[in-house]
Amino acid sequence: MEPNFEKKILCIGAGYVGGPTMAMIAAKCPQYRVTVVDINAERIAQWNSDALPIYEPGLDAVVAAARGRNLFFSTDIEDGIRQADIIFVSVNTPTKTYGLGAGMAADLQYWEKTARTILACAESPKIIVEKSTLPVKTALAMERILKSNDSHVHFEVLSNPEFLAEGTAIRDLENPDRVLVGSRLTESGLQARDQLVEIYRNWVPTESIITSDIWSSELSKLVSNAFLAQRISSINAISALCEKTDADVTRVAGAVGRDKRIGSRFLNASVGFGGSCFKKDILNLVYICRFYGLDDVAEYWEKVVHINDYQKERFVRLMLTAMFNTLAGKKICILGFAFKADTGDTRESPAIHVCKRLLEEKAELVVSDPKALDNARRDLGAAGKRVSYVKDPYEAAEGAHALAVMTEWALYRELDFRRIYRCMAKPAFVFDGRNIVDHRKLHDIGFNVYAIGKPPLTHFD
Ligand code: UDX
Ligand code: UDX
Repeated sequence: MEPNFEKKILCIGAGYVGGPTMAMIAAKCPQYRVTVVDINAERIAQWNSDALPIYEPGLDAVVAAARGRNLFFSTDIEDGIRQADIIFVSVNTPTKTYGLGAGMAADLQYWEKTARTILACAESPKIIVEKSTLPVKTALAMERILKSNDSHVHFEVLSNPEFLAEGTAIRDLENPDRVLVGSRLTESGLQARDQLVEIYRNWVPTESIITSDIWSSELSKLVSNAFLAQRISSINAISALCEKTDADVTRVAGAVGRDKRIGSRFLNASVGFGGSCFKKDILNLVYICRFYGLDDVAEYWEKVVHINDYQKERFVRLMLTAMFNTLAGKKICILGFAFKADTGDTRESPAIHVCKRLLEEKAELVVSDPKALDNARRDLGAAGKRVSYVKDPYEAAEGAHALAVMTEWALYRELDFRRIYRCMAKPAFVFDGRNIVDHRKLHDIGFNVYAIGKPPLTHFD
């Protein structure tokens, strides 16, 4: 017989956020029963297997510790809703691709469907927790749907945005900078908030748990991502100026970041930020600002995305110009396709734009990545006729005219570049979109080295 669990927790949406977050709650709180449901049966089967649907360092062990004990993955959403006391909603909220706000606003169709399913199935009071990143005031819409029929079931909606970053999700969940819980400031709202806080108190120090009103909580998530992305676009904008003035962006970032008021993190110039969140959330913020008539505010934040697009395109042009203004028929080895290291996720990866543009220039690509080749194949799809996918970086570089580092995988720092140089076409080029390889050493080996925001190191007169 199943043990008596103190609380029954459900999460709808077994993605990059829902899966790891629930695995951590289950691992830290054996007294709760945690069920994760998803409409995607294949994904659920993977969560129940030894080959989890996402790659995340440390995740396998956390899942293994709790699965079958108090962590369950299922496709039975309706039963899950009936059983649960607390329901986290972590379904995706992509950018709308149609109608009003296309390319900007969040597509809330899955969100609303989930609210309606909860309403249809719930027979007892529930706390509904927004985990997905949402436009501010979405909780109000959720409340209205949940109160839209005559059911006497009481629902309380909370906002509890997730701040984990992919690649470090387990560390971030285990030791978060903060946990944010937003609620209505009514008696029942505060009671619900305390119940959610109690879950996190099992492992998060009380001083790291922030409570607030629900709208501030929803907005804080969008603003956090906007600020992080803004730092990257700020340093990337400066990287363009460094390239014109023989300054070195790493030194500039190092000097600027030593000011404690500015701080040193998230100032790595790169080929551009990727990932499922930054662009989507900023565009969402921009859309909301426009909606409220704050056009100047909208324009300010939109520039963060604009600079990111500019940076990706600048990288392609740098390659083209350096390689004598023609890439046609040249073989280019793409080192890394994931949007960042330690993940197989390629959503919005700058490598997608760069590869598509290189293909337009009629280059031949060999894409290498330790974890993301399946996703890369899918992303390049029809555009990918002149692309091959080779996991081993040495094999991928054979006969190439250039290497382009797209992801900061640690293994690329330690490659035997002498061996790679020997098997490449000459003159051999390196374009380091992440500033991670040893530029001087590569130059000494014979490469012509181009990095982000640094003077090029070439063997040309
Ligand atoms: C998602 C959102 O994109 C993000 O805004 C939010 O912060 C957290 O949730 P992520 O977990 O990365 O992020 O998304 P994804 O990996 O796409 O997972 C969402 C899951 O929800 C998918 O497995 C999908 O099948 C599932 N889903 C979607 C449902 O179970 N029901 C639906 O109606 C729609
Ligand atoms: C981000 C936020 O960090 C996280 O708090 C939120 O919950 C989801 O969105 P994520 O997108 O998973 O997380 O990864 P992150 O580490 O933020 O990196 C995003 C992108 O920015 C990556 O492409 C990364 O390579 C790039 N980046 C990051 C830089 O180009 N320079 C930097 O200094 C830091």
